[in-house]
This record gives sequence, C-alpha cells and structure tokens, in this order.
Amino acid sequence: MGKFYVTTPIYYPSDKLHIGHAYTTVIADALARYHRQIGDDTYFLTGTDEHGQKIQRRAEEAGKSPQEFVDGIVEGIKSLWQLLKISNDDFIRTTEERHVKRVQAIFNRLYEQGDIYKSEYEGWYCTPCETFWLERQLVEGRCPDCQREVELLHEESYFFRLSKYADRLLEHIETHPEFIQPVSRKNEMINNFLRPGLEDLCVSRTTFSWGIPVPFDSKHVVYVWLDALTNYITALGYPDDPELFQRYWPADLHLVGKEIVRFHTIIWPIILMALDLPLPRQVFGHGWLVLEGGKMSKSKGNVIDPVVLVDKYGLDAVRYYLLREMPFGADGVYSEDALILRINNDLANDLGNLLHRTVSMIEKFAGGTVPAPNTYEDLDREVIDQAAAALRERKEYIEKLDVSGALAAIFRLVEKTNKYIDSAAPWALNREGNRERLATVLYTMAESLRVTALLLTPFLVETPGKIWEQLGLEGDPAALNPEMEAVWGRFPAGTQVKKGDPLFPRIDMEKAVGGPEEPTPAGKKEKNQPAEAGAKAPAGAKPPVKPDAAPGGAGLVTIEEFARLDLRVARVLAAERVPDTDKLLKLTIKLGGEERQLVAGIGEHYEPSSLVGREIVVVANLKPAKIRGLLSQGMLLAAASGDELALVVPEKSIGEGARVR
Ligand code: MSP
Repeated sequence: MGKFYVTTPIYYPSDKLHIGHAYTTVIADALARYHRQIGDDTYFLTGTDEHGQKIQRRAEEAGKSPQEFVDGIVEGIKSLWQLLKISNDDFIRTTEERHVKRVQAIFNRLYEQGDIYKSEYEGWYCTPCETFWLERQLVEGRCPDCQREVELLHEESYFFRLSKYADRLLEHIETHPEFIQPVSRKNEMINNFLRPGLEDLCVSRTTFSWGIPVPFDSKHVVYVWLDALTNYITALGYPDDPELFQRYWPADLHLVGKEIVRFHTIIWPIILMALDLPLPRQVFGHGWLVLEGGKMSKSKGNVIDPVVLVDKYGLDAVRYYLLREMPFGADGVYSEDALILRINNDLANDLGNLLHRTVSMIEKFAGGTVPAPNTYEDLDREVIDQAAAALRERKEYIEKLDVSGALAAIFRLVEKTNKYIDSAAPWALNREGNRERLATVLYTMAESLRVTALLLTPFLVETPGKIWEQLGLEGDPAALNPEMEAVWGRFPAGTQVKKGDPLFPRIDMEKAVGGPEEPTPAGKKEKNQPAEAGAKAPAGAKPPVKPDAAPGGAGLVTIEEFARLDLRVARVLAAERVPDTDKLLKLTIKLGGEERQLVAGIGEHYEPSSLVGREIVVVANLKPAKIRGLLSQGMLLAAASGDELALVVPEKSIGEGARVR
C-alpha cells in the first residue's frame, strides 16, 4: 500500500466551467478512485484560483465586488463537481483565510532569506493568461500563448530569484525523466525556457488590489501565479499545520493542461527548492479538448456545457466518453456524434447487452440462479485469461496515466465475453439438455461481468453498482480491492440474479443531433476521432449515387459529383457472420492505415474465411450506419445480376488505401 496525492489545476472562476475543465477533473477523479480502490492512502485536491487582474476586471464588468462575483461562480463549480460525482477530499479557494495567511508566510520567508527582492518591472503583461513576457518572447507584439494583446507595465515590483535555481532545476528535470510527462512537453520546457536562460520573475503588482497583500508592503499584492501554485501545499496545512502535509507531500501527480505546464515545471519547483521542500513526483500536461472549428471559448460562444450533456445522456456516459475518447496526452476533438457512438457501441451494445444476455439466460436456463461451474474448456479459458489480462493491463495503463488504454483493456474483456456467448451457444446447450456444460458457460458469463464491474469502478460511478445489483451480488463493488476480488472464481454460485432496466438506452442519433456530422475523407481523419465515413447500407451492388438526384441531367452526374465519393482499396483483416442472420457479414478492414468495421450483405454469397486477406473496393466517405446494432463504417462494392453477386476487386494487388477513380 502506498500513498497518492493528486491535484487538478485550480480553476479561474471568471466564467462557468466547460467540458474542457470537466475533462481534467474527471481524469483526476478516475485516478484518485483507482488509487483508493487498490488501497493507497489517497488525497485528491481541486479548487479555485480567485485573485488577479482578470477576475477584478470581470467583476467590474458584472457590476459586482470581486468577492461577490467569485462566490457566485464558485458555487456553480462546486455543484458541477457534485453532479459529476468528483471525489475530491478538499476544495481550496485562494480567497480563504487559511490560504491567504499561508501565502503571506511563504512570501515573508522567501523575502527574509533573500530570494525575493524589490526592484522595478518594465515589460509586457498578458492579463487573460496572467503572464509576464519579455519583448523577445512576444509574437508579432502579442501574447505567444493566447495571441491576445499585451499591456506595457512599468511598476515597482518584488522579484523572485528564478535564475539562482535554474541549473538545479535543469539537472532535476534531466535526472528525473518521469517528472515532466509526456516527454514532448519536457523537451519543450528545456529547449524553449530553460536553455535560453531564466530571468527573475516579477511576483507582485501595484496597479490593482484584488490579491493577497504583500505582508510587509501593503500597496503590493502577490502575483496571482505565486498565490495559485502554492495552493498545493497550503491546502495541506503548510507551513503551520504539518499533519496532512507530512502525510501527503510531495504530490504524486499534478495533472494540468499543456499551456500551464511551464508554470508547474519551472516556477513551482523553484518555489519549492527555495522553501527546501521536495518536488512533486510528476507533472502531466494533457492535451485540450477542442471543437472542429478550433478552441472552445466563451467569446466564440462555442463552449460545451457538461451539465447539459449529463442531463441529456447521463453521468456515466459523459464520464466514459471523456475518459475513453481523448487520445493519451494529445488534443482531442469533441463531437457529440462521437459521444453518441461511444454510448451506443460500447455502453449499450457491448456492455449493456452483455449484462442483459447474461441475466436473461441465467433466468431462462437456470431458474435465475448462478450455477457452479464444472470443468473449464479451452473456450472458457480464453475468457478467464482475458479477465486476468484486463486486471493486469488496467494497472499497466493507469501507471502510464493512459486512462483510455485502461478502459480499452476492460472493454476487450466485454467484447471477448460477448463473442464467447456466441460460440458457447448456451441456448443450444439448453436445447440439448447438456446441463453440465451449460452451468460452466453461464457461470463464466456472470463471473466475467463481475470482474468487469469491479474493474470499471474508478471510471464509471453508477454502472458498476447497477451491474452488481442485477447479478444479485451484495455490497459495494467500489469497496473491494481488485487485486483480491477481481480474481477468477469468486462469484458465489447459488446467487439469485435480478433482471433490471437496460444499463444504457440506445440513443437515436438523428433525434439527438440531427444525424452524424459531415464525413471527412478517409485519409484525413484525425486519429482520435471515431471513423465517420460510413456505409448507408451494406448490401453489395447498390449504386453509389442516386441517378435521379443528379443535377447534371436525368441519370447523369458531373465529374465533381463523382469526385465527392472517396472510393478506396481496403484489405480484409477479419470476417465473421453476424449472429442470427444469413445475409450479413461483419468485416474488419484496413483502410488508410486504420482499422474499420463494415457490415456487408454478402453472407449468402461468400464464406467469411474466403475474404480474409483480400483487397476489396469500398466507399470510404459514406455516413456511418448501424446495422443490427453494429457500426458500419463504409460500403463495399459488388456487382449484382439476378441471384449472382460478384465483389468488385482490383485486377492486381495495389495496396490498401489506393484511390479508385
Ligand atoms: N488558474 C489557472 C491554473 C492555476 S493552477 C495552480 C488556470 N485556470 S483555467 O481555469 O484557465 O484552466 C484550468 C485548467 O483547465 C487548465 O489545465 C486548462 O488546460 C484546462 N482547460 C481549459 N480549457 C480546456 C480544454 N478545452 N480542454 C482541456 N482542458 C482545458 O489556468
């Protein structure tokens, strides 16, 4: 058992928070819940960064005092975290007395030991970022971070001797590869900031008053980043109340957005060095959630409100989307379509359906009682091994902070178990009266779901309990240690299952958002986006363009219209029959370097195994479609004549991704 202290940035209460802020906090929450689940002594801190010129100006615009202004917004932030079931242990506000007095004590100490000194500041300031810039750092006279206008300041200020500690910091960064993650951000810090040399940092302001007064010179207020960064230790009681501080410092993880890595890996460690305190183990700079048109911002009026999403789709759906869809460490594009696809595919179709099938079959074939297993066969062992892999891989991914990878590992177990049911065919065993084998299969299904629910508890906060209940299990899955409990065979045979509501009702994309977004050409798709180019219908020889819709004349299309179709060569990686149908095959194809799923109506004409490895031609930019609940991301071409069907294939091998014109 270890300890785990994790923090989010403290948010500016200048506006309501949006889905991007929720993203950071939900990841931190999942990590905190994970560490609690494995028995670590865990502390999770979040809060609000309430001082500074930006907030003062926003309050003036709103005709309120700064305190009145922030109080209102902070209330909204706290209730957002309650809605998202964020499990923070503390919430620090920088206007709280406990923080103010500790910042003053820290400032005093740094001044007394000579690390803070008084001088004149002349230079540039970006108020939205609350950042000082040197002339040479500006880009075309604007803030290099947000490209907004900067102001020229000339004021008496206190300075912090960053330069004195620069070499020590560089050495620390170089000898502790885990300190700044991902590694690209570490290189950026070294090359862009540390190597060119650090200037001393201005740490007080005199031209506005909304800040913590410098204790020995009250016309100055403490620079808002010095005030804000110290929250990670003042919340633990530093310097006057050592109990929590000794227990949890240094932080194991500061989770921050990529634009504020610099403050956390240069200014913050130097403050800590000057205070003679150990440095945090890791600062992880995650990417941004952006919209297709670019960054989310209040001024563009394009922010996504998490409250609206939770209302519309439910808490676990939103949490799952945020945790699963965003690529590890990089920017991700937010799209409501992608959210709906995740709900329908992963949550409703894979997980929800697995629970429904399992509980229904136990009711139908075993009177609702989970039977004891008999001898396991190879087929069962595949599920058992996958369950062990899910536990192991979840740990490995979380240790790398790849939450999406951890979820993918758990969902591989879900997928495997669904396939297992298709192969083990409990309905046939029941028909044949093979009670012994049936018992093993039903037990395997239930046990796999029990392990899944346990592994999901840090990420989804309502669903594991619901699975537990339908499986008839007692207690709270979040209270069980997976190392002990996610081990195969702990499902008590004889348990009575209880069928309940579907876990995730399927969302009708048309009704929810008016259909999927415009498709992007296959080769240009963002890696993190779900494949959007899809198939309207899979059946073989459908003409791709309706002739009578062609404006070029009856039955004719223009070359430009034809060019809108993205026809490509794809390679079939795998093929299988869609259960309970004769016509449909599910194909996994490789196209433009990515894998896609196709559902094609060629099952009466082709054996799945005869297709594997072949090159076929597909329409790569059709809107996605759902066929028998399966996502189809493209349409293959085939020629039909009477009862005959022939696949359209390249005359010689040309390689997947090749364009067909
Ligand atoms: N107050 C400072 C942090 C001080 S920490 C000692 C601040 N606040 S903020 O409200 O502007 O941003 C807080 C966090 O939200 C940052 O980590 C930022 O990257 C994150 N996000 C803001 N918009 C975001 C997205 N669109 N996507 C992902 N994260 C985003 O900076």
